Amino acid sequence: MRAMVMDRFGGPEVLHMGEIERPKATPGNVVIRVAYASVNPADWKCVDGWLSQYFEYKFPFVVGFDAAGVIAEVGEGVTNFKVGDRVVTSSNLGIGERGSYAEYLRSDVARVAKLADSVDFKTAAAIPTAAITSYEGLYDVFRIKAGQTILINGGAGGCGSYAILFAKNTGARVAATCGPANLDYVRGLGADLAINYRSENVLNAVKAWAAEGVDFVLDTVGQGTLKDGLKMLKKGGTLGFIATLIKDEPLFDPEEAKTLGVNLAFVMSSHERSGRQLTEIVDLYNKGKLKAPALEVLPLDQAGEAQRRVKDGHVRGKILLKVADI
Ligand SMILES: NC(=O)c1ccc[n+]([C@@H]2O[C@H](COP(=O)([O-])OP(=O)(O)OC[C@H]3O[C@@H](n4cnc5c(N)ncnc54)[C@H](OP(=O)(O)O)[C@@H]3O)[C@@H](O)[C@H]2O)c1
Repeated sequence: MRAMVMDRFGGPEVLHMGEIERPKATPGNVVIRVAYASVNPADWKCVDGWLSQYFEYKFPFVVGFDAAGVIAEVGEGVTNFKVGDRVVTSSNLGIGERGSYAEYLRSDVARVAKLADSVDFKTAAAIPTAAITSYEGLYDVFRIKAGQTILINGGAGGCGSYAILFAKNTGARVAATCGPANLDYVRGLGADLAINYRSENVLNAVKAWAAEGVDFVLDTVGQGTLKDGLKMLKKGGTLGFIATLIKDEPLFDPEEAKTLGVNLAFVMSSHERSGRQLTEIVDLYNKGKLKAPALEVLPLDQAGEAQRRVKDGHVRGKILLKVADI
């Protein structure tokens, strides 16, 4: 099969089109013929070798966590999926198997969800990593409810876009930061307040909108971009920061949180919860309750270019790789 492979760690230039053996279904797993794969910041961190602390890579390696397509083969013991089912998966990459920048990939059924015919493969492939992580933050960590307030730092990115969509779907009030080119985009996702982080004082803007502070802050950007984040919370509120894995990045100060009477929480997608979360998110899409974030498509052989764009840090919504016409 065709796949964008890497034979060593490095920058996006190490990705090249190659021919490798098609995966076979094993017990509890399915093989999926991929229509679209989506590109996440974790992918370039994987190519750089940063994720080798989590799993062992065997070269030639294929990156890419997310894919949507059709089941091509089912492994022994799999009863809930059949050949031809339209599905989305967060793949077996997190356990060191080859990922989604390929014509076929193998996935544990625990990380596969069935798509309604109304959900197209592009919309589906964008979901897993970004949406699961925001879902983890909003529902498993914050337990956000209708009427509560949240500031989302990085509202135009993958995680940020899904966080706005989820929070509004729950009936929360949402403020989000973004650059000037994304103000309308973020409002279009449903944000009640869009804050231009380049020209506005974010703390003042939040306090003018929610005088006592907000219930939650979700920082999807990190790297010290939200230095007053803890001060934006009302007493008892929680700031969740998504693990960026960027080395030596400035972190929020637990002592400051204690002094202010607010909570600090780490947000990271978890193997234990991600399968259940993917199913719940896909169910919302299957029922037509959520729209897709902005989606941009590049051909599979431009995976390196897609990773350069993501690494640059200003993609709107999600970039997808088109693998096959299915
Ligand atoms: N550990 C986990 O479980 C996990 C899972 C998912 C993601 N992550 C991490 O979370 C981070 C975000 O992921 P992602 O997929 O959302 O990334 P992304 O889609 O690449 O985020 C890009 C967005 O960040 C915004 N941005 C950049 N600088 C900003 C700033 N100073 N203030 C506000 N917004 C800013 C950009 O908006 P503008 O162009 O408008 O500036 C752009 O839309 C990454 O580091 C990723 O690795 C971790």
